Amino acid sequence: MSTPTFSVADIRKSFLDFFVSKGHTVVASSPLVPGNDPTLMFTNSGMVQFKDVFLGTDKRSYNRAVSVQACLRAGGKHNDLENVGYTARHHTFFEMLGNWSFGDYFKRESLKWAWELLTEVYKLPPERLLATVYQEDDEAYDIWTKEIGLPPERVIRIGDNKGGRYKSDNFWMMADTGPCGPCSEIFYDHGPHIAGGPPGSPDEDGDRFIEIWNNVFMQFNMDETGAVTPLPAPCVDTGMGLERLAAILQHVHSNYEIDLFDALIKAAGRETGVTDLNNKSLRVIADHIRATAFLVSDGVIPSNEGRGYVQRRIVRRAIRHGYKLGKKTPFFHKLVADLVRLMGDAYPSLREQEQRITEVLKVEEERFFETLANGMEILDATLDGGAKVLPGDVAFKLHDTYGFPLDLTNDVCRERDVEVDEAGFKTAMEKQKAQARAAGKFKMDKALEYTGAANQFTGYEQLAETAKIVAIYVDGTSAAALKAGQNGVVVLDTTPFYAESGGQVGDEGVITSGSARFAVGDTLKIKADVFGHHGTLEEGTLNVGDTVQAQVNTAVRAATMRNHSVTHIMHKALREVLGSHVQQKGSLVNADRTRFDFTHNGAVTAAEIREIERRVNEEILANQPTQARVMDIESAQKTGAMMLFGEKYGETVRVLDIGTSRELCGGTHVQRTGDIGLFKVVGEGGVAAGIRRIEAVTGANALTYLQNLEDTVNQAASTLKAPVAELNGRISQALDNARALEKEVAALKGKLASSQGDELVNQAVEVKGLKVLAAALPGADAKTLRDTMDKLKDKLKTAAIVLAAVDGDKVQIAAGVTADSVGKVKAGELVNFVAQQVGGKGGGKPDMAMAGGTDASKLPAALASVTGWVAQQLG
Ligand code: ALA
Repeated sequence: MSTPTFSVADIRKSFLDFFVSKGHTVVASSPLVPGNDPTLMFTNSGMVQFKDVFLGTDKRSYNRAVSVQACLRAGGKHNDLENVGYTARHHTFFEMLGNWSFGDYFKRESLKWAWELLTEVYKLPPERLLATVYQEDDEAYDIWTKEIGLPPERVIRIGDNKGGRYKSDNFWMMADTGPCGPCSEIFYDHGPHIAGGPPGSPDEDGDRFIEIWNNVFMQFNMDETGAVTPLPAPCVDTGMGLERLAAILQHVHSNYEIDLFDALIKAAGRETGVTDLNNKSLRVIADHIRATAFLVSDGVIPSNEGRGYVQRRIVRRAIRHGYKLGKKTPFFHKLVADLVRLMGDAYPSLREQEQRITEVLKVEEERFFETLANGMEILDATLDGGAKVLPGDVAFKLHDTYGFPLDLTNDVCRERDVEVDEAGFKTAMEKQKAQARAAGKFKMDKALEYTGAANQFTGYEQLAETAKIVAIYVDGTSAAALKAGQNGVVVLDTTPFYAESGGQVGDEGVITSGSARFAVGDTLKIKADVFGHHGTLEEGTLNVGDTVQAQVNTAVRAATMRNHSVTHIMHKALREVLGSHVQQKGSLVNADRTRFDFTHNGAVTAAEIREIERRVNEEILANQPTQARVMDIESAQKTGAMMLFGEKYGETVRVLDIGTSRELCGGTHVQRTGDIGLFKVVGEGGVAAGIRRIEAVTGANALTYLQNLEDTVNQAASTLKAPVAELNGRISQALDNARALEKEVAALKGKLASSQGDELVNQAVEVKGLKVLAAALPGADAKTLRDTMDKLKDKLKTAAIVLAAVDGDKVQIAAGVTADSVGKVKAGELVNFVAQQVGGKGGGKPDMAMAGGTDASKLPAALASVTGWVAQQLG
């Protein structure tokens, strides 16, 4: 073949260079988790980061862009997970080469440049290329046939072939809603020796004709009903699979044979001990390490819901393939280093997070290996009889008890030509949910039954309210009245009390009427719009129907609001300082502090915390007014507000601007950022693999925190009798002194030991040519015992020696035998002979052994017995 060979790195570079030469701006790959877009699970194509530009709600400084974008098609509208390992060209993670026009050039330039790049730069033979266009798109058809010169028989029109208006292989949409338009796809013919037919034919799914480049002519925005409205300006969105192109340019038939995959597959072979590099499982592992490592680096860690569950499914599927190859212990995470070597240059954040990615995957692997073997045994036992269908309840049990995601079970069954009874699986799942609901209902019986109207919540604007009692509960059941001393729950027709939600605790306060005073300790939702005020009636009586004054505890609420508002600002600062992989994983906001959990590798450094504090306090000092706007979810999306994926937002939402942060939030907030007062981080730590927790205080709490620190410092200064400014120097001085004294003490002990040693020499008795000495050394420590032992050995020359030190009841014993006598007496035996008499044991080398004991009272007798024992040994 005449086409030159390009490495993956060459292809990335030549693609970018080509479009730069056509006036495009290079844009970096955006994270796999799309920012602020709850309609989309993962970035599934290069255009995702430009969605708002197409819609006209965002502008860029350029109107032509080019990128190499990391993409994931697993879960969500575009999902290739099931195909990985079964075809030559499907991946979960892949790289998309793309170029864009934002209201600038359109079909003509797009198609001509695509042709130029493929045939002149990559030198693909034109006769191998063919194209499809949308049925109605005469313009694109004519450009291909008349201007570019593709023979009409190689330009195929494809209409709405997927059961509905605009449901077509040649009409592209990012998700169920959003920007969309007709497209023209360029195909490469691998040649008649490969099975498969041209696009639009019944055999189109074969590997012969492979789509390499999709040129989408973005013209519409589609809403939930399928209706389309024209975009502000027609745009171009193209996408070419890097791996597919590489396969062609490297003259191989499968994406898994290109340079990058070849290296990854070799690494997978190394870890699993498999030498046949065509093994399908190695391909699965190589594909999945890319997907999972990039996911971790973009903040997604394995869990049981949403994106985290897709992550878990991919990791576990890879592990199962390793298991199939004989791996019984974690191996998958070891491939992260190989991946970083191969892709770290193109994606620096992968390299930066190597350690964290490895750790997160390792934890998930260890967890799954605990149940994998047992699950596989059950699966094997069920299938060994030659069953053709795996019962749904078995699949469910594997899922529920052994952590086998359904697609993993499917994957195993597909290999053995067995079908999974998915309907049965769903039934079993439903049954379990119903049981769980029934168990929940039992609890609900004790909870509060409320059938009345929703209450008004006025607590965004005011903290006191005249209201009517619409329900009272005592001991969980509805009551007409509450008497003095009783605990209960009161429901009002309108209330300024905020009920716990979104991480913010419920309000406290009082509800009064005449002489009645009900102290509210907490406010919790009974239903979405019905708030229960939990508390104690301290005086008087309250009846349903009474008119009352509801008064929120303003100090507590104000402190809570400070902490809630600052959480938004801190969230933004965390993403700015640590990176956009930071995803909120939980929060708790009360009057004392804010606690915020988020995805991040390793500890947040002291310098990073300082920077976060600096940014947050800067926003506070700017003292900007808070703005809350209620709008429909779509308009909210367009504002670019931070949204949490998987969070269920209602049709109308509140968009909160606090400082420069913008989030959807139903909580209560300060009026101006300046109301927050000082912001201070007081704690940072890990809560799970890949998840950090930061705690911070504001307002009066920040003052108290600093005053307490000051007290500690002042106390230390007064103890050291030094001014605070000199504290550091004095502490170092004190530590230096202590160290000097320790040295001196050690030297003195040594001297003492040697003088004691001198005296002890005379106490040795001679037993059959061997000098035997057993003595206590008052005040000695282990080191002194050893030093003294060495001296005594030197002096006595041929000897067996026992030395003991006493500290309370505890005894330390050293036994030593001079080198010339170790054949006769063993130090280890000698030390144990003594130690066992004082309730201990020990051991060591033939010439020196140590032991401990717990009964000092027996030591004198034990020492006295040494001479006899040695005599016995010498026989
Ligand atoms: N966004 C288009 C695709 O992914 C180019 O096919």
